[in-house]
Amino acid sequence: TPEGWEGRGTGSEERRCSSLTADRSGSTWPRAAGGPGSSGPTELSRLSHGDLYRLSVTDPDRFWGSAAADRLRWAEPFHRVRDCDLSSGRIGWFLGGKLNVSVNCLDVHVEKHPDRVALIWERDEPGTEVKVTYRELLETTCRLANALKSHGINKGDRVAIYMSVSPLAVAAMLACVRIGAVHTVVFAGFSSDALAGRIQDAGCKAVITFNEGVRGGRVIQLKAMVDAAVKTCPSVQHVFVCQRTETPAVMGERDVRLEEPAVCAPEPLDSEDLLFLLYTSGSTGKPKGVVHTQAGYLLYASLTHQYVFDYRDGDVFGCVADVGWITGHSYVVYGPLCNGATTVLFESTPVYPNPGRYWETVERLRISQFYGAPTALRLLLKYGESWVKKYDRSSLRTLGSVGEPINHEAWHWFHSVVGEGRCPLVDTWWQTETGGVCIAPRPADEGAPIVPAMAMRPFFGIQPVLMGEKGEPLSGNDITGALCISQPWPGIARSIYGDHQRFVDAYFKPYPGFYFSGDGAYRSEDGFYQITGRMDDVINVSGHRLGTAEIEDALDEHPAVPETAVIGIPHDIKGEVPFAFVVLKEDLSDDAPAVLQQLRDLVATKIAKYAVPEHFLVVTRLPKTRSGKIMRRILRKVAMETTEDLGDVSTLDDPSVVKEIIEAHEEYRKQREEEKKKK
Ligand code: WTA
Repeated sequence: TPEGWEGRGTGSEERRCSSLTADRSGSTWPRAAGGPGSSGPTELSRLSHGDLYRLSVTDPDRFWGSAAADRLRWAEPFHRVRDCDLSSGRIGWFLGGKLNVSVNCLDVHVEKHPDRVALIWERDEPGTEVKVTYRELLETTCRLANALKSHGINKGDRVAIYMSVSPLAVAAMLACVRIGAVHTVVFAGFSSDALAGRIQDAGCKAVITFNEGVRGGRVIQLKAMVDAAVKTCPSVQHVFVCQRTETPAVMGERDVRLEEPAVCAPEPLDSEDLLFLLYTSGSTGKPKGVVHTQAGYLLYASLTHQYVFDYRDGDVFGCVADVGWITGHSYVVYGPLCNGATTVLFESTPVYPNPGRYWETVERLRISQFYGAPTALRLLLKYGESWVKKYDRSSLRTLGSVGEPINHEAWHWFHSVVGEGRCPLVDTWWQTETGGVCIAPRPADEGAPIVPAMAMRPFFGIQPVLMGEKGEPLSGNDITGALCISQPWPGIARSIYGDHQRFVDAYFKPYPGFYFSGDGAYRSEDGFYQITGRMDDVINVSGHRLGTAEIEDALDEHPAVPETAVIGIPHDIKGEVPFAFVVLKEDLSDDAPAVLQQLRDLVATKIAKYAVPEHFLVVTRLPKTRSGKIMRRILRKVAMETTEDLGDVSTLDDPSVVKEIIEAHEEYRKQREEEKKKK
């Protein structure tokens, strides 16, 4: 143990939160909560989930204070559980406390079981998995941390991580954490322009990457992408290069190969020091750097990981998300590692080398929890059941779904074919901004059967509120409204990097005093929640969140394109796909096919390939109100061919535009059908 670091199961009560120990006597929850593998008393099992939930909302200070004291190791105890004022976006948890997240994710487990497997790296090539123990992961983390330090990276500095899913990516995250640097992982599918934008916004001092990445049998030139990105990033002093493949990287002046000693003392950090930034899409063109801090985020990730997935000591936890998304942060890295779990890093794709990949992996690694996205399930169910049934899935206990609404067909296929009707399937609703799962069934909650395709119940401490059109909280059941949350919880984001006002405006202004999620939801007769989808201009393509405004911004850069409007339309596998309405400069309309190809390339280089619109419709103008606002409702109806009822079009500047667009779409549809026939 690093000197001065105590807590969690060591019995050193004074070093825990002394102000809270006093009023614990009557409750069985606080002491019992020591997390999976805790050697403390286990009276927790005596409190029903209902009682835990009630305690979490009636006495949040006590609930969260006790959970933080018992589940986390502190260098210094906190003196105040929370200080929050949602209307101004001020959110603070566990104030005065100092800790280090990497100590909680590594050192505490190395003390108890150094040789327990922390990571199973399911490499792209099936059957070549690599196991990394807690001891090894700590060593690698320390080496990287020392390399960062010796190159002048200090507490508070931002570091971009542009790596494919791998133990080194996890170690890179934890190395930043160890020295108090702030990581921002950029999904390796993003273009070098998108990477550069994030590096600039965060002012990153360094980038950590691989020479190359591998996915689905294809090689991705990560280092070359970084080289292109950093050309426009003067803040970057060093690029640290790790090897994923044999091919040596071309090294330049600021590039550093990694080799350092394996011990690095952790930096004690304030509960509210920055832990990481993660860029995500909102309703404007510029992605926002969502800020998460140390203790609250970690506690919430660890508690939800245990309860939502019914995680138990010895399980092999399989979340197949990429570490570039929040799901990868909370349920590949931080939640599982904090709980001392063995967590799977899935580098490949669901169909490489064939559509049995997930289930073959489940059999080979003996996975207990399988957590993935509906888009992959919708793809796989088209291939038939034999790809699933071929493999032994008896190790599975819980199934989970995340990122987008799960349709009934996918839910039932996952539940009955994959899980043989034997494993609870949890539909988990949450967001980059919420840090961890907020609404989901809890499988260990006996007596609460799971309703198919519903996120159902709020997690401990979460109080959902549905808002009506006039901004009023709706009471009663069997209603639909804007999904808000009325009380802060430890995992909620703290800010948007460099723009706190945007944070306040986006989340706390629409319904003063409440967190607004941007999603709509339905509350059933039984009081359970079902998410109905985004209420803003954010769409969800293959489980990846995208702002339509971001795509429009990329398209608008083309000199021949005065104006565009992008909307999302349903797609049977991807969930949604972008549909672009494009106005071309008049003299260019003959070259339309060439321009459209340039537009596709533009989106791929500005954002990512998955953001390229599936449909382009050239129109002469867009439907606008007299005040100049594009009426997207009309565009949606045209794209989905539901124009019988257009609703009120009286505020349109010139209603004849509607007919024009419908005709253009009709023409486009015919063309596509002919093309299909030819194929
Ligand atoms: C959507 C992903 C329906 C939702 C963890 C949310 C869901 C956005 C669900 C956040 C679900 C996530 N059912 N919709 N179970 N889970 N969403 O930030 O629209 O990448 O606002 O976080 O995904 O996406 P993000």
